[in-house]
Amino acid sequence: MEKRFWVQLHLALTLLFLNVGSAQDPPSCYGTPGLPGMPGLPGRDGRDGLKGAKGEPGIPASSTQLGPKGMKGVQGPPGPPAPGKVGPMGIPGPPGLPGVMGMPGPIGEPGDYQATSKSAFSAARSSSSYPRRDVPVRFERIITNQNGHYENRYGRFTCRVPGTYYFTYHVTSRGNLCLSIKKGRGSSKGDRVVTFCDYVHSSFQVTTGGVVLKVAMNESVWLEPTEKNSLVGLEGSDSIFSGFLIFPEA
Ligand SMILES: *[C@@H]1O[C@H](CO)[C@@H](O)[C@H](O)[C@H]1NC(C)=O
Repeated sequence: MEKRFWVQLHLALTLLFLNVGSAQDPPSCYGTPGLPGMPGLPGRDGRDGLKGAKGEPGIPASSTQLGPKGMKGVQGPPGPPAPGKVGPMGIPGPPGLPGVMGMPGPIGEPGDYQATSKSAFSAARSSSSYPRRDVPVRFERIITNQNGHYENRYGRFTCRVPGTYYFTYHVTSRGNLCLSIKKGRGSSKGDRVVTFCDYVHSSFQVTTGGVVLKVAMNESVWLEPTEKNSLVGLEGSDSIFSGFLIFPEA
């Protein structure tokens, strides 16, 4: 700075002398010019300049430079249904549970009294062997079985029309014979109602017995020999067990 200043000053003085040298004609009446004055003091600071142009926009911040994650917001209301097309109908679902039982229906028409109150049977035994003691005698040959209440497989009559019945038997024996008319339920031993005995020795005879009995629904009635069991059924000399309803239960 200092050096430059002095270079400029020297240049200015040189130009001044050249100028003096070139004006030779008129100035013969003037004296020699004085020496240049001393440099002035430095000037004061200038005023502020004009405002600069606006800068370029900054580089966007990358995702790694984002701040900490905020808290989860509350769930928004459900959006409107998607406007897709209606699909094909699905397969039917499984059947539902059964409903509650309905109210009882009205009382039906009166039944046919005659049709339901018939019960009668007769069955014969044709075996020549003695029946076993303490079990029902099987009259295997059915002669009459109105409504099918005599079961020849078991030798029992089983009541399906409750009421008062008459039971009777006519059997051929060849010796001592004691027969009971028994009543019971299912395959029970049953109760002895009446017992008839005949004591004869080695001769054929027909013995008979009968009883009027009130029989309830599902009760059975049968014939059963004791140890004196010489009952037989022979050709021309049958043994038969019969029963029939006298009147049904009121
Ligand atoms: C009689 O027996 C039949 C089945 O053999 C049963 O359904 C019915 O409830 C019985 N009735 C009585 C009154 O015991």
